[in-house]
Amino acid sequence: MTKKQASQKLAELRQKIQHHNKWYYDLDQPQITDFEYDKLFKKLIDLESKYPELKSLDSPSQKVPGKALPHFTKKAHTQAMLSLENSYSVQDLRAFCERLVKSLETEKLSFFMEPKLDGMAVELIYEEGFFKTALSRGDGEIGEDITAQVKTIKSLPLKLQNGQTQNLEVRGEILIFKEDFKRINEEQEKAKEKTFSNPRNLAAGSVRQLDPKITAQRPLRLFIHSPGGLEIPSVESQADFIKKLHEWGFPAFSPPSLSPNLKHNAVTSFFEEGADDPQVLKPPFGLLTMAHSFQDIVSYYNRMQEIKSQLPFEIDGIVLKLNSFLEQGKLGNIARSPRWAMAGKFRPEQKITQLEKVKLQVGRTGVITPVALLKPVSVGGVTLRQASLHNFKELERKNIQEGVAVLVHRAGDVIPEVIKVVDKPSPAIKKLFESKKVKAPKRCPVCATPVKAQGDYLVCPNEDCPAVKLNKWIHFASKKGMNIDFLGEKSLEKFAQWAWLKSYSDIYDLKDKPIQDKEGFGEKSYQLLVKSLEKSKKVSLKKFLFALGIPLIGEETAGKISEKLYEKESPLDLRQVLSLIKNLSLEELEAIPDVGTLVAQSFKQAFEKPALLEDIEALAKRGISLTTPQLKTGRLKNRSFVITGTFPVSRSQLKAKIEQEGAKVLSQVSSKIDFVIVGEKAGSKKQKALDLNLTLLTYEDCLNRFGWNQDFKS
Ligand code: IVH
Repeated sequence: MTKKQASQKLAELRQKIQHHNKWYYDLDQPQITDFEYDKLFKKLIDLESKYPELKSLDSPSQKVPGKALPHFTKKAHTQAMLSLENSYSVQDLRAFCERLVKSLETEKLSFFMEPKLDGMAVELIYEEGFFKTALSRGDGEIGEDITAQVKTIKSLPLKLQNGQTQNLEVRGEILIFKEDFKRINEEQEKAKEKTFSNPRNLAAGSVRQLDPKITAQRPLRLFIHSPGGLEIPSVESQADFIKKLHEWGFPAFSPPSLSPNLKHNAVTSFFEEGADDPQVLKPPFGLLTMAHSFQDIVSYYNRMQEIKSQLPFEIDGIVLKLNSFLEQGKLGNIARSPRWAMAGKFRPEQKITQLEKVKLQVGRTGVITPVALLKPVSVGGVTLRQASLHNFKELERKNIQEGVAVLVHRAGDVIPEVIKVVDKPSPAIKKLFESKKVKAPKRCPVCATPVKAQGDYLVCPNEDCPAVKLNKWIHFASKKGMNIDFLGEKSLEKFAQWAWLKSYSDIYDLKDKPIQDKEGFGEKSYQLLVKSLEKSKKVSLKKFLFALGIPLIGEETAGKISEKLYEKESPLDLRQVLSLIKNLSLEELEAIPDVGTLVAQSFKQAFEKPALLEDIEALAKRGISLTTPQLKTGRLKNRSFVITGTFPVSRSQLKAKIEQEGAKVLSQVSSKIDFVIVGEKAGSKKQKALDLNLTLLTYEDCLNRFGWNQDFKS
């Protein structure tokens, strides 16, 4: 390569990396996998070290990517928050260790090894033992002040334990567990909202909400792994530091049980074959451990890769840290990363397979989703047969056609995804037939109604489309809906074909149909169905609202609307629900956290349709009734109460109950008060509340409305 070519290539690489940095760090929507990104980065580093004269100060290699978001207050880190150098192979890890042996002129190395958590980096600042500030990494020098958002994380210690009163800075990761990620994405998809590509993006997206109330609804977790800019007296190594974290009360991995006779005393060479740490890799296996030989590192790397899928959170590799802070200090940093640490990242499993066909699926809200039918391929121990292609815009962007070879993986280790079309597949993936372009349909593939565009999605607008209806019934009967155990997709498909179903209430008339006589259904399955129909008749309002399959009303939103309705009246039956919803204004709906204008409108519109109202009336006639909601702590969060008068229980008992529900009890009546509880001999406060037109509740009202019976009556 000539110098001119190298210069051109460098410019191209820098521009590409900057482009992907923006998508990954600033917009939380990566366009390529971490592995592909790291490959680009490695090319840049290699080329820059081959042509040092072409290095430039504004190269991505010289700085930590990302920048502080404009709408957060910015603050400088006491000491830059660096990145880690990445490697993807045992050879690279070995080269790193050899470098350290040379620089430190010793074979007696001790590394501390940790999982590399795939989350969002955070710095926590404590002043005189009290939590003060949380900063994001930002560009490494200047971070965003995310204190209010981080304060919503339950495991954040607001005060250091054991009476510690020092100034302290620690760094760690904000995470979302895999299970929570999966659930939230399912809910987002159902509500036709943006889905997140992996738990890291969901975590970062949740923290970057300007409104901490939105952050508070996301199950964020915190793990601390590193010291920040301030020196910590009497902590001399990473192993000491991790132990200290537990003393201070931080969420962190358990420290390894260190053996007193450190292994390197017995090892003549760090690279001696066969040396391995006896406490590391035998059960019970801790996630943190020490390495005193290169063999330990290899064993740890392999072991963590093996157990990665069983961990509840995402890790994307391991981190090797020289254990001694003194030795770390001797080595120092290069531009964007410390010389004393290295990430050993895992190569995500990706496979090439053939995309045989693109099937069109019409969902219960009419959205038409292209789904890739794949030649079955095993990825990360799971056989993938199909992968959602999300929408036709995505299909076009990725240039996906039937018959092409594609690279697939499981996004966030869960959701099957087509990464890209592979131009030159290996001979093993022979083209079965000529590739064929997939055109976005003009008409619904099921009912032939002309489709409508809704943002990036195509939608069948026909509410009577057989696919829309069938999927509505499937949703209605599903576990998270009415939970009708013995009414699965296959049966519903048959019942729909036999024209037994027109509305939700028809489902409860199935007991009168000649099911026993039909092929594939016997007396037993009929009895089981009847039993499960009966059982499902008692349902919570949340599940009932969700089961109705109203566009944009996911499980969480249904729950919040249900809470709102119970605030108005309790207990409730279906007819009362209808009348409450009728009187519920759009403004009241929008005041519910996370319910925007579109959601509120969708909900109101659904209950203006005579067909649904009649159907709910018919369901009530068939005996569908609502269970009284379970008490939930924090249900009355941010509400304010005033208590006046005397009650069958003491005022402090009543106050404690209200506070347990997350509400405040104030002494003065003002227009900001949500509820005034009036007892016997209530005086001027009651009058003032009446003058201000506030909501007055008697003791009995409270028991009914908030379901407090069990706690107070006995
Ligand atoms: S130590 C100088 N330990 O990885 C960096 N970082 O690419 C010291 N990370 O920004 C960081 N798990 O947020 C360290 N066990 C771990 C980690 C970890 C994840 C993140 C960290 C850092 C990024 C570097």
